[in-house]
Amino acid sequence: MALDRIRIRGGKPLSGEIQISGAKNATLPLMAAGLLTDRRVVLTNVPKLDDITTMATLLAQHGIAVEPVGNKGRTLSLGGTISNTEAPYDIVRKMRASFLVLGPLVARVGEARVSLPGGCSIGARPIDLHLKGLEQLGARVVLDGGYIDARVRGRLRGATIVFPFVSVGATENLLMAATLADGRTTLVNAAREPEISDLAECLVKMGARIEGIGSDKLVIEGVDRLGEAEHAVIPDRIETGTYACAAAISGGQVLLRGARIEHLGATVRALQEAGVEIAEAAGGISVRRLDGLHGADAMTEPYPGFPTDMQAQFMALMAVAEGAAMVTETIFENRFMHVPELNRMGARINVHGASAIVRGVPSLSGAPVMATDLRASVSLIVAGLAATGETIVNRVYHLDRGYEAVERKLAGVGAEVERIEG
Ligand code: UD1
Repeated sequence: MALDRIRIRGGKPLSGEIQISGAKNATLPLMAAGLLTDRRVVLTNVPKLDDITTMATLLAQHGIAVEPVGNKGRTLSLGGTISNTEAPYDIVRKMRASFLVLGPLVARVGEARVSLPGGCSIGARPIDLHLKGLEQLGARVVLDGGYIDARVRGRLRGATIVFPFVSVGATENLLMAATLADGRTTLVNAAREPEISDLAECLVKMGARIEGIGSDKLVIEGVDRLGEAEHAVIPDRIETGTYACAAAISGGQVLLRGARIEHLGATVRALQEAGVEIAEAAGGISVRRLDGLHGADAMTEPYPGFPTDMQAQFMALMAVAEGAAMVTETIFENRFMHVPELNRMGARINVHGASAIVRGVPSLSGAPVMATDLRASVSLIVAGLAATGETIVNRVYHLDRGYEAVERKLAGVGAEVERIEG
């Protein structure tokens, strides 16, 4: 709930197994892909998160019912006929990924009216690449009353789209749109995140023709229609990296069950340089802190570089490492909101432009803290695990958008963590 808080009493080394959930950022575009067909799309290994509920609400009002299969809540069946092409402000403002319905709606029924996502605490986050790409595919795109109105007579037409920089969302939106376009679309400088390959693989199961999956050049031959598919969502690599930082900062050892090391990219090297042993193990990835933590630099980059979604958690780890670390954010311009909060816990972090210098301290001290975005919030939990005394993280609704049962998963490996309701 919105006013819930999380209380952490630090100092316990984590030990045991944590089950890694399906990836939020893979599930959201996969759900949007349900708009591309009137047949059933079944997704398994779906995480239980508020963002998934928001996407289900959005799809339902477009006419696509999202229903749980079985009683575990991890399998969703999507199906229905598009009855409404407007994505309202009330839903889109809650979750930026709502914008992923734009490409599929235009490709499928020739029109969409999608609210602009609006401000976001981690930077301006424009959507110009999504819109330019859609125009290149033949859509007419206008801004009208805070809404993007996009339409095409007949089908979208294949085109070569060269992205000036890498965008995960624009790649996904245009990949989905291109599957139903007339002719060949080439996406150059496409994002290569594992979530994009997961989406592409599901689209191929639905009948799409896509080459270059996993590379920065995707070639899509449009088809007339897509059909049914069943697809298992990949494990969440950011949740994996977050719990790796949690284990490391606590001085413990955990098995991250279901995680895939090949999806972690530069996170592995950064952790190793920091003195953390991280390796593939039976059933997942094992993580163990060796002797002490050492300062290690990290610069965020598109995959397979160090993920911006791991920057805050890694910074929390560096806050208690021996020596200094430079953490540079190149993807978002305002993604250091966790710094003042970490400093309130005794960290020594200075921000200069896009870089933060973290001078490690021997220990942090617990404090009431809060953060205004998902990864910043979880970084405060990570910090709390190594702090003396009690840390209270306020405003946990950000956490509930993207971390399934974080307090239960941590308590399950021996952390003193609990949710205080209300
Ligand atoms: C996705 C992830 C998010 C992650 C981000 C970067 C989802 C649901 N969210 O967000 O967790 O932090 O990738 O890995 O998968 N940009 C533009 N114009 C555009 C599109 C993007 O200028 O049209 C800029 C953004 O402001 C940002 C950069 O490009 O500075 C990268 O953004 P993008 O990769 O598009 O991020 P999202 O898809 O929004």
